[in-house]
Amino acid sequence: IMYDIAVISGDGIGREVMSACEYLLDKLDLKLSFKYGEAGFDCFNKNGTTLPEETIKLANDSDAVLFGASTSTPGQPSPIINLRKELNVYANIRPIKSYKGINSIHDDIDFVIVRENTEGLYSQAEYGDENKVIAERIITRRASERISKAAFNLCVKRGQSKVTCVHKSNVLKKTDGVFKESFYKIAKEYPQIKTEDFYVDATAMYLITQPQNFDVIVSSNLFGDILSDESAGLVGGLGLAPSGNIGDHNGLFEPVHGSAPDIAGKNIANPCSMILSASMMLDYLGEWEISNDIKGAIEKVISDCKIRTPDLGGDSSTMEVTKAIVKEII
Ligand code: NAI
Ligand code: MG
Repeated sequence: IMYDIAVISGDGIGREVMSACEYLLDKLDLKLSFKYGEAGFDCFNKNGTTLPEETIKLANDSDAVLFGASTSTPGQPSPIINLRKELNVYANIRPIKSYKGINSIHDDIDFVIVRENTEGLYSQAEYGDENKVIAERIITRRASERISKAAFNLCVKRGQSKVTCVHKSNVLKKTDGVFKESFYKIAKEYPQIKTEDFYVDATAMYLITQPQNFDVIVSSNLFGDILSDESAGLVGGLGLAPSGNIGDHNGLFEPVHGSAPDIAGKNIANPCSMILSASMMLDYLGEWEISNDIKGAIEKVISDCKIRTPDLGGDSSTMEVTKAIVKEII
């Protein structure tokens, strides 16, 4: 089968890691057809919008989307937040895996955070007056059950044994009451999977003290965002943190990091988060074998060959790391 892939590189290192990623995919004899879309800061300066209609259409019409990173434009909406909304990709999946030899606290971590992507405190509904401002925290049964289902399905797929629901229902009794109830309702459909639920503050600590305890964590939008950055820090930083945004009809894959203006243009950005995101995309498309080969090759290059970009303590360039990964695969 030929897959149509929408490629949106964006700004800064988004472009550098995307061209490294395309270089790699081109070498792998895959049936991918790339179509290109614009988004972000440079796009705004050129077209007057951070996310043109053509880009949304291109993304919607493709089999999957690869997104690099964009630089935020003052006073303009975030293209990636809006694109996730347009594509209704409600599950933000962020695998957390440690690599041997990388300076992290633990080297045996392998879990995944499933973050609700469409509501919670990111509904962007804030109002009030000069003295009092209010942010709406919208939690629906529909979205809560949907995200719990995504988490349990992912647990089965990964062959792991437990899903942990993270919330703060002792304080946010109504909203997180619904989130937690929905979790246990869906859990009944998966009797073979263990369940537990923790408060988000306790979870922040457990992630440091016993991260090996986790298989799949499911949480609402803000908690999931914070815990996934904490977790990325635990295993080697943003250069090794991929993500997938998955809905019923679309999949959008992107590194967790931004456009990194501090290192842009120097050919030292770590391409691994982008390439791991592409590996998640291939898995989503059903190309499991090559997806696993890519992950294995990255592990070898980083841990055994010690070919690393400066963020991981090495002195290799973006393309040197990319070529080393390609060499491991073919
Ligand atoms: P950032 O993720 O771009 O950078 C944070 C730090 O991590 C920087 O020191 C950077 O050099 C480093 N870093 C990030 N990715 C790296 C990589 N692949 N290899 C090596 N080092 C890497 O976040 P920051 O600096 O807060 O934001 C920069 C711009 O990116 C802002 O305009 C921000 O709004 C935007 N941004 C965009 C995102 C997206 O498009 N999804 C996500 C986060 C930020
Ligand atoms: Mg974040």
